[in-house]
Amino acid sequence: MAVDVVILGLGYVGLPLAREATRAGLSVLGFDVNQALADSLNAGRSHVDDLTDEDIAAMIGSGFRATTDEREIAGAAAAVICVPTPLAEGDGPDLRAVTGATEAIGRNMCRGTLVVLESTTYPGTTDEVVRPLLEKLSGLTAGIDFNLAFSPERIDPGNERFGAANTPKVVGGYTPGCTDRAAEFYGRFVDTVVRTRGTREAETAKLLENTYRHVNIALVNEMARFCHELDIDLWDVIRAASTKPFGFQAFYPGPGVGGHCIPIDPNYLSHNVRTRLGYPFRFVELAQEINATMPAYVARRAQNILNEAGLATNGANVLLLGVTYKADIADERESPAIPLARDLHGLGAKLGYHDPHVDNWQPGVDVVRVDDLHSAVAQADLVILVQSHRDYDADSLAAKAKRFFDTRGVTRGDDAFRL
Ligand SMILES: NC(=O)c1ccc[n+]([C@@H]2O[C@H](COP(=O)([O-])OP(=O)(O)OC[C@H]3O[C@@H](n4cnc5c(N)ncnc54)[C@H](O)[C@@H]3O)[C@@H](O)[C@H]2O)c1
Repeated sequence: MAVDVVILGLGYVGLPLAREATRAGLSVLGFDVNQALADSLNAGRSHVDDLTDEDIAAMIGSGFRATTDEREIAGAAAAVICVPTPLAEGDGPDLRAVTGATEAIGRNMCRGTLVVLESTTYPGTTDEVVRPLLEKLSGLTAGIDFNLAFSPERIDPGNERFGAANTPKVVGGYTPGCTDRAAEFYGRFVDTVVRTRGTREAETAKLLENTYRHVNIALVNEMARFCHELDIDLWDVIRAASTKPFGFQAFYPGPGVGGHCIPIDPNYLSHNVRTRLGYPFRFVELAQEINATMPAYVARRAQNILNEAGLATNGANVLLLGVTYKADIADERESPAIPLARDLHGLGAKLGYHDPHVDNWQPGVDVVRVDDLHSAVAQADLVILVQSHRDYDADSLAAKAKRFFDTRGVTRGDDAFRL
């Protein structure tokens, strides 16, 4: 059956996009290589934070269906690729999912199809990797027989204010005609479409956004270390600086960066600059170094807090609160809680964790899941607030704890040690 769009990759990015397109009245098919996922979506179950089972049921009611049969791609007017782009050995992107999805499209597309890549990747991927594959497998020519564009995904999981419809969508086509076609497509369900000169500008815009966050988080993380030594309250510093109505945006220190975007994507750019031009993208490499060493810094501070109380970390009961990479969501990917747990375990701590969003956390070292938050907080030698989920009343937990280390700067009273 012909559909307006097939979305390839039904994860944190693809599924909200499918919902938005469905809501706007487009007929949407979902394609994924994971049969169990397709089955569970077709049975009305959501696996991402931003969509409930009711949302999936509403999508199915509007004609959405998930499939693993690539032949069904043939009937789609547009194909949007939202598959993962993890890091490969040597810090370049692992493009296997992108090439796999592109090949599935190339084998099945027809004249007139619009193909859009949304996965974050290095500049040039759409033109140098996706286009030749599509042309070879379909026998068609981009810009003449079919349209090709890059449009970076900007989803912010857990953000209740900005979703797929009201976040402006950047679109860059292989030709101006491709840009027009992609802009017209997204204009059907996104409020604002922003055009770039070509695919490389759209690819690089996404990497600039993520690199900007990475670098600014590293800046405050580096400041957190020396402000602590100098007895300066950095949280108060940031609060004061934020009152400047222009030219300043607040970023906050923390136990490290996580998720797919911040710790990983800027590496695509630095890897690309290094391999193509032979020199480093120094800001990214420095930010990477600073942010990646934050879990070890937090572990050392935890060791010092215990030491001041005459306790050895070896044998101490340490409770980690919140282990996801971001507040109020269940995504554990690249969470700094994982290296932190490993570092503390290496120092001999006995670890417990509590997280309302994570039932079975496996950081690769022994951790005991805690259900009774309040009694576990009272009993632990040290409680570390790693992720400040809204379920946690940090001040009241800090008042109950023997020692409370707040790595997020959310406590207001004097009961906590702050990063
Ligand atoms: N999650 C975010 O917050 C976020 C935000 C902005 C950009 N992105 C980018 O979007 C892309 C997708 O990320 P995600 O978080 O949605 O990933 P995800 O892991 O949640 O989902 C990806 C899905 O793609 C499927 N898949 C893998 N190979 C496939 C193939 N060959 N064909 C079809 N489906 C395939 C997987 O089975 C999975 O269901 C990445 O490039 C990521 O960098 C993610």
